[in-house]
Amino acid sequence: MTAKRILVTAALPYANGDIHIGHLMEYIQTDIWVRFQKLRGRECIYLCADDTHGTPIMMRARKEQRSEVELIDEMSSRHQRDFAGFFVEFDNYGSTNSEENRVLCGQIWQALRDADLIVSQTIEQLFDVEAGIFLADRFVKGTCPKCREPDQFGDNCEKCGHTYRPTDLIDPVSALTGATPEVRETEQLFVQVERLHDFLDEWTQTPGHLPTEIANYLKGHFLCDPLRDWDISRPAPYFGFEISDAPGNFWYVWFDAPIGYIASTQQWCDRNNQQLDDWWRSDEVEIHHFIGKDIAYFHTLFWPAMLKTAGLSLPTTVHIHGFLTVNGEKMAKRKGTAVNAATYLKHLDPSYFRYYLASKLNSRVEDLDLNLDEFVTRVNTNLVNKVVNLASRSSRFVQQLGLSPEYPDDGGLFADAAAQSDEIANLYESGEYSKAIRAILALADQANAFVENAEPWNLRKDESRVDEMQDVCTIALNLFRQIAIYLTPVLPALRGQTDELLGVPIQNWDDVRTPLVGTPVAKFQHMMKRVETKDVEAMIDETKEEAAQEAALEQAAQFDDSPQPLIDEPLADECTIDDFVKVDLRVARVVSAEDLPAARKLLKLTLSLGGEERRTVFAGIKAAYEPQELVGRLVVLVANLAPRKMKFGLSEGMVAASGPGGEDVFLLSPDSGAQPGQRVH
Ligand code: 2FM
Ligand code: ZN
Repeated sequence: MTAKRILVTAALPYANGDIHIGHLMEYIQTDIWVRFQKLRGRECIYLCADDTHGTPIMMRARKEQRSEVELIDEMSSRHQRDFAGFFVEFDNYGSTNSEENRVLCGQIWQALRDADLIVSQTIEQLFDVEAGIFLADRFVKGTCPKCREPDQFGDNCEKCGHTYRPTDLIDPVSALTGATPEVRETEQLFVQVERLHDFLDEWTQTPGHLPTEIANYLKGHFLCDPLRDWDISRPAPYFGFEISDAPGNFWYVWFDAPIGYIASTQQWCDRNNQQLDDWWRSDEVEIHHFIGKDIAYFHTLFWPAMLKTAGLSLPTTVHIHGFLTVNGEKMAKRKGTAVNAATYLKHLDPSYFRYYLASKLNSRVEDLDLNLDEFVTRVNTNLVNKVVNLASRSSRFVQQLGLSPEYPDDGGLFADAAAQSDEIANLYESGEYSKAIRAILALADQANAFVENAEPWNLRKDESRVDEMQDVCTIALNLFRQIAIYLTPVLPALRGQTDELLGVPIQNWDDVRTPLVGTPVAKFQHMMKRVETKDVEAMIDETKEEAAQEAALEQAAQFDDSPQPLIDEPLADECTIDDFVKVDLRVARVVSAEDLPAARKLLKLTLSLGGEERRTVFAGIKAAYEPQELVGRLVVLVANLAPRKMKFGLSEGMVAASGPGGEDVFLLSPDSGAQPGQRVH
């Protein structure tokens, strides 16, 4: 029997934000699994794409005054750069905005139509009058109608997992403008998922398809009642694919997003001369989706329903993980813990994070806590001290000699490690990475104990014991290589370094069974340095700074000030502080203001500088102010301006004001508390 081919996907990241360590957990978890399968010699492809449609992208493009396509192209490069930085290697990285996806959406849509599953209904939707759009689920917040948790999005509740319509929210508010949205009627298209209820009962409850806790949850929360129709279209304006047989309506992003898995496969097939049906309509293929628990609903009910209706293969398994927390708390940028992939890479080695995650991941739907102290300790104590040092301490002495021509007697260490191959493989296969890492570290402990005991550094001092020393190093390096092979899915960089050091590339999991003998050993190149707490702290600090900058930009964007005043009157030449202090600006109070009927523009102001000090000023503010509204207020007076003889009398200074003139004149006023006579510095 030939092993089945394997098709693997991770959730398609939204194109409206950068990849952070929370996302990376899933892509790395999946990448480890795929690398493991490939190392075992299985034909396996890892597919992903950017999830590009929907209101968030449309709104962001509007805000940034560019097209959606320009925005999603940029995000796709950023995402791919970040994934590559963490050695997450896809066989194809597509986009849900691709032509392949449009065609596939049309085909699956037609299958739903043919099965008579689509109905049209008039529904009430929330409309943001200020923004001029119907509000997508994620743009409305309010209180969950089921558990009453406040501040929930319009599609499902993060607390209780209940899904609902945005109009079901209690006290909805537009997240775009803060306005209370209006309820408006629209005609939308729905999939009658209930018609697939029996199928979904059977599929979700079949062991192996879903983690048991999720299967139980679906049964207890959704499959116990009739399934609600799924609202699958959105009215214009919407960034997505227009529905060909319903012009003016677009497929909801959650319809075309998972189809993006297939579209990405299509692109891979086209490049590799393969047929899509051999992957998506074949019993010879296992399909594995890796996703987070927040999107389980879409992947375990709607998605199988779509696939079933279109006659496509159903997932073999949907692997579902929990969230990443940091130091026991939900990640937050402002706390410095929602670290962007790119920021992490400025400070730390990606292998640290891959290793740490692997040392904690299991197959349950549990949150994983990144404890930063533990991160430093685990990486240094286990990865650097136990694994990497094994290579450095045993390779230096045999750089000239190479490995012994025959594999020496090691008391069964190599054979013992090789014998664990199936057990460790099963742990990877079942997603129990933390147990696999534990088993591998136990091998590293044995290998280190062997080296400690054999003391090659002492043997080396004695000419007559060179062969013995070579044997010890041959054993140690082979034990190291077994560990590197077992860690290859987690640490591809270490695999590369091991290949360089020992000159024989690791190609297959079964390489653990054959020791290297008689081969040269290259000069030891540094493999991995210890992680420094200060680097972790610098990364957190930089993330906090990014958060502060983003907040400042967001705030600034709210004040949509025109550039016109500066264009009309560009900044003056630079002056010195000495120039500035020559001008004596004083706080003054208007004690009387008089209209001069004969003057077109001027009011006569009498200003007090405190005590008995008075100044008379003729100010060109008649069109902008009524005299009586000025009396009593504070102004800023240019107090040492040379007096100027005017038609109506002597003007003893000038009041500071901005604006082009006429009605548009704005007197400066000091904040309350200022005293007449105080100098303005
Ligand atoms: O939750 C998310 O980030 C979605 N962009 C995942 C989509 S997965 C798939 F269905 F496309
Ligand atoms: Zn709730």
